[in-house]
Amino acid sequence: AARPYHEQHRPQFHFSPKENWMNDPNGLVYENGTYHLFFQQNPTAPVAGNIHWGHATSRDLVHWQQQPTAIAPDSLGLIFSGSAVLDAQNTSGLGQPGRPALVALYTSHSEKKEKLGRQDVENQSLAYSLDYGQTWTKYAQNPVLKNQGSRDFRDPKVSWYAPGKKWLMALSAHDHIEFYSSKNLRAWTKESDFGRTLGAHGGVWECPDLIQVKDAQGQPHDVLIVNMNPGGPNGGSATQYFVGAFDGKSFRATQPGTRWLDYGPDNYAGVTWANLPAGSPTTLIGWMSNWEYCQQAPTSPWRSAMTVPRTLALRGAPGQLQLASQPIAGLGKLFENPVTLTNVAVSGSYDLGKSLKDTTGRYQLKFTVPQAQTWALVLSNAAKEQVIIGYDAAKKAYYLDRSKSGNVTFAPAEKGFAKVARAPRTATGPTQEITLLVDAASAELFADGGLTCLTGTFFPSRPLTGLALQASGLTVPKVELASVRSIWDK
Ligand code: FRU
Repeated sequence: AARPYHEQHRPQFHFSPKENWMNDPNGLVYENGTYHLFFQQNPTAPVAGNIHWGHATSRDLVHWQQQPTAIAPDSLGLIFSGSAVLDAQNTSGLGQPGRPALVALYTSHSEKKEKLGRQDVENQSLAYSLDYGQTWTKYAQNPVLKNQGSRDFRDPKVSWYAPGKKWLMALSAHDHIEFYSSKNLRAWTKESDFGRTLGAHGGVWECPDLIQVKDAQGQPHDVLIVNMNPGGPNGGSATQYFVGAFDGKSFRATQPGTRWLDYGPDNYAGVTWANLPAGSPTTLIGWMSNWEYCQQAPTSPWRSAMTVPRTLALRGAPGQLQLASQPIAGLGKLFENPVTLTNVAVSGSYDLGKSLKDTTGRYQLKFTVPQAQTWALVLSNAAKEQVIIGYDAAKKAYYLDRSKSGNVTFAPAEKGFAKVARAPRTATGPTQEITLLVDAASAELFADGGLTCLTGTFFPSRPLTGLALQASGLTVPKVELASVRSIWDK
């Protein structure tokens, strides 16, 4: 067996658990120099079930260290998704002098009630930590928010609402989001419902997040993130968002239509960090998989990785603002052997791979082309496996084609792994600005400064070290390449 963290499809600059199953990021909170990443974890098997909160920490959102499992199931059920906040003012009374509590709100998912066919399977519970997130104590009076009659009633995302001096909870309830408020994180009062008749409804609404994001002028806007499974733009799990206004009680969408944070098949359950240091941009991380086929993904002894952490900004004309995602700036320190090519003349196919000298299929690529230019990047190996990522000017769409990427039959064909994923180009600027991150078994495309994102996983039989840029009659002013160092090698 391969050395831990050096298995063939193991990401080297994305967080993945050492072994067994992982899904959603949970309890994203910063405290005292440490970024916490809790996650849905089955500590005993590489499939969903027996769900705990796993734990990893980082000083820079780039290098991660897995920690002991944080929260284990109890008589109320499994520990489903949720969030964590630093209760700096000790509103909960759970802190100690000079030692504020980290407070986690999560969903207790009862398998007992499920067996009995009951509707009140999911309730919200609280746990707190007085040792910087290392160990957690469950609140004696759990659950703190009882099920209100919806079978799907989960994924509490809590934030401090300064104007009202209260905590807010966004909670998913099957086909809409419910908002609750609290003065002490323990007693919750219903405030409002959102979204029964807005946005995409091809699946269950899950993992909401009410955030503030700045536009190009530095003006903050309220944005509601709503994950949904299935019904995504390319099948299965995906993340939509609404730009709007929250008035302390309810959220109102101020822009019509459905917007997707990422069109790729493998970016789900994304939410943002709480309590970031002053001046930090809003930062999100997603689970890089899809409920359609995640449990069959051909990796061992672990299953699933997170996306890279991404900073969010709003871009576009007033009334037509869109979320733009970018890899966090700190990732830059992992890049090595940078190569800059200038005036790259492409007629047919140009071999970028030889400049990159990559041997493991892990790198960053950046370039800019005119807005109406058709192009394709072909990632390949000697086994003639390939992933194609490109832009089709006739369709005005970016795409990711993994139909010949190696193992594409690990899940039944109807699960759609081999389908080409497409994403409309919504930007109107004169150039396409492209950033691509490749990490052996995943590609993350950030097009047009992140206005259109496509994230997808793949499982070739050997590394995709070939890299060709295909276009006709194109001169690219600048192509930047860099390989990426492992976050696991100290
Ligand atoms: C989203 C989700 C959440 C739930 C968790 C269970 O992927 O279905 O709604 O809390 O996963 O693991």
